[in-house]
Amino acid sequence: MLLFWRSLLKISPDIPYQSVLHSSSRQAEQINRVTVYFFYAAAFIFLVVCISTAFVIFKFRDGHSEEKNLSKKWEILMIGIPSLLVAIFLYLNISTISQVEPEVRGQVPDLVITAHQWWWQASYPSGVIAANEIHVPSGKKILMKLVTADVIHDWWVPQLGNKMDMVPGQDNYLWLEIPNAGNYYGICSEFCGAQHAHMRIKLIAEPQRDFDLWQSHQLPSSANAGWNSGAELFMNKTCGNCHRISGTPAQGMIGPDLTHLGSRETLLAGLMENNFANLETWIRHPQEIKPGSNMPDFHLDDSTVKAISAYLYSLK
Ligand code: CUA
Repeated sequence: MLLFWRSLLKISPDIPYQSVLHSSSRQAEQINRVTVYFFYAAAFIFLVVCISTAFVIFKFRDGHSEEKNLSKKWEILMIGIPSLLVAIFLYLNISTISQVEPEVRGQVPDLVITAHQWWWQASYPSGVIAANEIHVPSGKKILMKLVTADVIHDWWVPQLGNKMDMVPGQDNYLWLEIPNAGNYYGICSEFCGAQHAHMRIKLIAEPQRDFDLWQSHQLPSSANAGWNSGAELFMNKTCGNCHRISGTPAQGMIGPDLTHLGSRETLLAGLMENNFANLETWIRHPQEIKPGSNMPDFHLDDSTVKAISAYLYSLK
């Protein structure tokens, strides 16, 4: 079993170092500005406290001290400075929150993210549905709606700023403007069950033209796989009760949409590289790879697994 996990670790795709301090969205920049101000203020206060403590220890080191009331001037300073700092930071926080999270006012979201145990679904107003690899246009302010299909999850891509809980029965929103195209990584940040740690986010920000191109390729009408024995088996083995492949009878919405599975880079919310061998292994031993997940082990025979994997992998 240990060997199995080791081998799994090796094929786990590498994720570049992600730091919350490398702001990559307008929202993250604004949040980090307040963080930096706060850090400097806290460092200054820490320094003042250290110096005053050292001063008192040194001055009264012989143990002789006499009760002495502070002068009015000191009293005013010691109450005034902290109050002023609190007021400044209260203002900074409130103004940053209103800039980062302006009111939604009935606006139609550009993207709806639905968290599932343990993967992410992305739905666009165009009707495109994708899973785990989430495309957004760069250089444009978009509105994301965040919901959950089951328990509480939490959306967090450190470089893009704030986290947002996904709470059953509640719609939460995030504004996002990413100036530079690139890949940004995150992970579910609220414990949501056995595979919480395997709920990675890959967000692909690309120029509007590339985004439109991606979207037109994803549109239901462009499902381009031929009908073959793998497709037949996929439908017959009830895979389609949970998974959707647009343009086919498979219309389940419990598991991830598989319409363009072959074109994704990873499988299982970033757990494994997307290749034919990994796909086969997953269909064969879902409960060993992601224990507790909703994907049942159907004990399919070898040729069935191969045919279904080939069909799914061909869905580019
Ligand atoms: Cu989803 Cu933790």
